[in-house]
Amino acid sequence: MDHFLYKDGKLHAEGVPVADIAASVGAPFYCYSAATLTRHFKLFDEALEGVDHLVCFAMKSNSNLAVLKLMGDLGAGIDVVSIGEYLKARAAGVPGERIVFSGIGKTREEMRLALQGGIRQFNLESEPEMQALNDVALSLGQVAPVTIRVNPDVDAKTHAKIATGKSENKFGIPISRARDVYAQAAALKGLDVVGIDVHIGSQLTDLAPFEQAFNMVADLTRALREDGHDIRRLDLGGGLGIPYERSNSAPPLPIEYGQMVKRTLGDLGCEIEIEPGRLIAGNAGIMVSEVIYVKQGEDRQFLILDAAMNDLIRPAMYEAHHDIIAVNEPAPGGEATKYDIVGPVCESGDTFSKGRDMPVLSAGDLVAFRSAGAYGAVMASEYNSRPLIPEVLVSGDQFAVIRARPTYEEMINRDTIPPWL
Ligand code: LLP
Repeated sequence: MDHFLYKDGKLHAEGVPVADIAASVGAPFYCYSAATLTRHFKLFDEALEGVDHLVCFAMKSNSNLAVLKLMGDLGAGIDVVSIGEYLKARAAGVPGERIVFSGIGKTREEMRLALQGGIRQFNLESEPEMQALNDVALSLGQVAPVTIRVNPDVDAKTHAKIATGKSENKFGIPISRARDVYAQAAALKGLDVVGIDVHIGSQLTDLAPFEQAFNMVADLTRALREDGHDIRRLDLGGGLGIPYERSNSAPPLPIEYGQMVKRTLGDLGCEIEIEPGRLIAGNAGIMVSEVIYVKQGEDRQFLILDAAMNDLIRPAMYEAHHDIIAVNEPAPGGEATKYDIVGPVCESGDTFSKGRDMPVLSAGDLVAFRSAGAYGAVMASEYNSRPLIPEVLVSGDQFAVIRARPTYEEMINRDTIPPWL
């Protein structure tokens, strides 16, 4: 459930008509609902009730400071994958002891800054990374809390570009070598090995691959304890999928995920961390765009929008589906047609959808891309010198611009011409 609903024939974001925001901010723009973000965080938090846990929002999905502040105020932890993300989380007021640092290529400089600033744990992904963190921690006179990410070699049954738990993927250490690697880590004086980390992929629509991986983590926990390691924390990553296509998909709910976590790992007495991104932010956001032209092709009609692949790259990059709805509610039984929905960028990949059933639209009409709150604004670029589009946060009947559209001047001035040119 989200808070983007029609009221009196107009799409609203909570209590605010989306067209009012467009009139004030100008299309295209991203719009997030504070109530939906809050609801989704709480669904996970409640799903893990009864076990010691921390829900760490994966801020790679949406890293706007206002969203991070909202999450932090709810008590969320944050999963970061770069020092840039770490500093943004801190700037939003999230304390270091609620930040976990993931990622396969953390540099020594990133490690140093996070250790000095305060960090809950590093999720390590290789032996050389272990050595590097050990060196950095010792040079600062600190001991770094760490988990080691294991790769369980399970098929997450998701898009190949976002599957991470197969042995051919670059992530984690092979679970078969885990006991060896943990023994090496335990010998390093700059590291405190607190637990195990696993993340098998994103947009999973079935609990079975999670369950398979978590059972392996349960076995590994017992084995490592036998080896003398004090395993007390399990980071299970993110990955629970969302219904991008409302008419025909219903992925498992956080409550079912939580029950499965408790069933597989609940008796180990470990603190559980999870790192959901998409399920918290995805359906808490829409991207609003205006129709520039309707163009008649040889055998099809093109709906040419003012938003493009640089603003929302998911369809071009992952063949992803986003529901696209008219901001003015179509009349029941009103005229419908099929469009190829495209942006103005100069490549054919800039296509959001082909042959999509839509109400008949004309230039100036607004449409909303659903499920655009995760991996939308964060993956945008200024390709074709199109300035990044603004982000807006709604709460009840109020809204605020939480990232302004840069002016053309600001965009141009980011480049510099060397004096010898
Ligand atoms: N933890 C780790 C270590 C991750 O790598 C990821 C996502 C997450 C948590 C959060 O996963 P989520 O709950 O959001 O599924 N750009 C792609 C998604 C990339 C996901 C990368 N890692 C997309 O637009 O579908």
